[in-house]
Amino acid sequence: VPFVSMEACVNMAGGEPFSMQNLSEVSSICKEHNIPLWIDATRLVENAYFIQQLDGPVIANGFHESVAEIVLQICAYADGITCSAKKDGLVNMGGFIALNDEELFERMRGMVVIYEGLHTYGGLSGRDMEALARGLYESVDDDHIAHRVGQVRHFGEQLQEGGVPIVVPIGGHAVFIDAKRFVPHIPQDRYPAQTVAASIYEESGVRTMERGIVSGQHGDEPYDDMELIRLTIPRRVYTSEHLEYTANSISQLYKNADKIKGLT
Ligand SMILES: Cc1ncc(COP(=O)(O)O)c(C=O)c1O
Repeated sequence: VPFVSMEACVNMAGGEPFSMQNLSEVSSICKEHNIPLWIDATRLVENAYFIQQLDGPVIANGFHESVAEIVLQICAYADGITCSAKKDGLVNMGGFIALNDEELFERMRGMVVIYEGLHTYGGLSGRDMEALARGLYESVDDDHIAHRVGQVRHFGEQLQEGGVPIVVPIGGHAVFIDAKRFVPHIPQDRYPAQTVAASIYEESGVRTMERGIVSGQHGDEPYDDMELIRLTIPRRVYTSEHLEYTANSISQLYKNADKIKGLT
């Protein structure tokens, strides 16, 4: 095993966080076997916020530590992080790798020249780099992240009020509808999640993403269990009214879900 990668608030299956306890146990196993631990930090701030809210007593200094401090504590467990800054980092473009191994750093720096551009800008314009630096500071502001995750939670609760079956607990960046419960009459080989995603678009004009066997199936692998529809909420884009409209439209669709036919 060359390395272990842990994704914060995993994108494809609910946006659920890992706990500090879980991270610490993974880190111990990795240390025991001398395997580097990397974190995909794309949604690390959301994960840190969940830790602040749910995991508090596990953290030595108590419950009310800032999200910024929890982010640092998480990173202290990692040999390196990769980050797509287009998500928690609040920017249109960019990302970065951070690591504490000088020799590997030098090797990676050489690769950046081949794939992205000179290491001083990594393929980004100065404007984008400045926006990224500011985005990182703003992303760890406690009030900002509380509002962001709160908006997603509120949207999920509105769907629940409409009876719509979703993955719980509600994650940090998206609400996932469970297509197998939304259209139980459609078998998996008639693409229930893809069908519901298309029906949501027809009903409301809202574009969602299928997370079932259309996007998740590879070659001859057996079907996995998931047939989800991901409703991802970009940061600082939607008002409560946008989300209310979406929740109402999907709740309406759900009332007539037995009329939805599967795809062939
Ligand atoms: C967790 C995670 N890591 C990495 C990426 C890839 O990001 P990029 O498009 O910036 O390469 C994504 C994209 O959605 C993601 O969700």
